[in-house]
Amino acid sequence: MIAQNLQDKTTLHNGIKMPWFGLGVFKVEEGPELVQAVKTAIKHGYRSVDTAAIYGNEEGVGQGIREGIAEAGISREDLFVTSKVWNADLGYESTMAAYEASLNKLGLEYLDLYLIHWPVEGKYKDAWRALETLYKEGRVKAIGVSNFQIHHLEDLMKDAEIKPMVNQVEYHPRLTQKELQSFCQEHGIQLEAWSPLMQGQLLDNQVLKDIANKYDKSVAQIILRWDLQNGVVTIPKSTKEHRIVENAMVFDFELTKEDMERIHDLNQHYRVGPDPDNFDF
Ligand SMILES: NC(=O)c1ccc[n+]([C@@H]2O[C@H](COP(=O)([O-])OP(=O)(O)OC[C@H]3O[C@@H](n4cnc5c(N)ncnc54)[C@H](OP(=O)(O)O)[C@@H]3O)[C@@H](O)[C@H]2O)c1
Repeated sequence: MIAQNLQDKTTLHNGIKMPWFGLGVFKVEEGPELVQAVKTAIKHGYRSVDTAAIYGNEEGVGQGIREGIAEAGISREDLFVTSKVWNADLGYESTMAAYEASLNKLGLEYLDLYLIHWPVEGKYKDAWRALETLYKEGRVKAIGVSNFQIHHLEDLMKDAEIKPMVNQVEYHPRLTQKELQSFCQEHGIQLEAWSPLMQGQLLDNQVLKDIANKYDKSVAQIILRWDLQNGVVTIPKSTKEHRIVENAMVFDFELTKEDMERIHDLNQHYRVGPDPDNFDF
């Protein structure tokens, strides 16, 4: 089912519901711009925010959430908040401690989703056990991974008691990840797109511009709609109110099968971010 509105949710394999659409806050530093962006998103109907310990902005995200929900007259339970354990904290005890630290900074009692940020060899299984403990203790609603390739998922699932509910990966028209998406579908793992707009670098693409003109939409809206029609959760980042609004206006049109394919054909297996099989951090 394609999302019908900004608050529509996908059901994860444990029954928890996650919004199809959310706000990313990578590279947004602590300060008024960050707090304002989170509040603005909530004001305009966003119900999901994606941060990470390494972004160094969990305090401002927490403040934006508190102020945003108060102004919108909604409660914490209406929001879906994601954070991620950083590589230096991968390990059983260190991941448990990192979760506490993230909660404290965010000023929250629980997270909706906690992810292993990168598949550091030899470390992610101990971290996963910690996430399983947090989940079984009811301290987090859902657990998952990020930047996991098929072989990382296979390796993790060999020993895991609980399958990841989400895999958040780089995903955009230049990196369409078809095999990974099929694998995740087979295993009930929800795929989530990071850098869906390729960090702004796709906005001048002529094919996308032609499609945008046809639907009287922006290139960003075409890409984000393509995510949703592919069954991929998406979390575009913007700190500008007009773009926060624009990005979410993707529920009033539908891309044809042909246009979906034209966008898929832009795939070049090209990454703007690090390669999960070859990173050194
Ligand atoms: N798990 C991971 O390893 C990982 C890695 C990277 C990112 N992420 C997550 O994914 C989120 C999104 O990815 P991202 O921040 O890397 O990149 P992105 O969402 O693909 O692109 C963000 C860039 O596009 C601009 N932009 C946004 N909407 C626009 C629009 N409608 N028209 C023109 N420009 C627009 C933004 O600028 P303005 O702010 O100036 O509007 C910003 O420069 C992150 O914020 C983070 O939460 C996760």
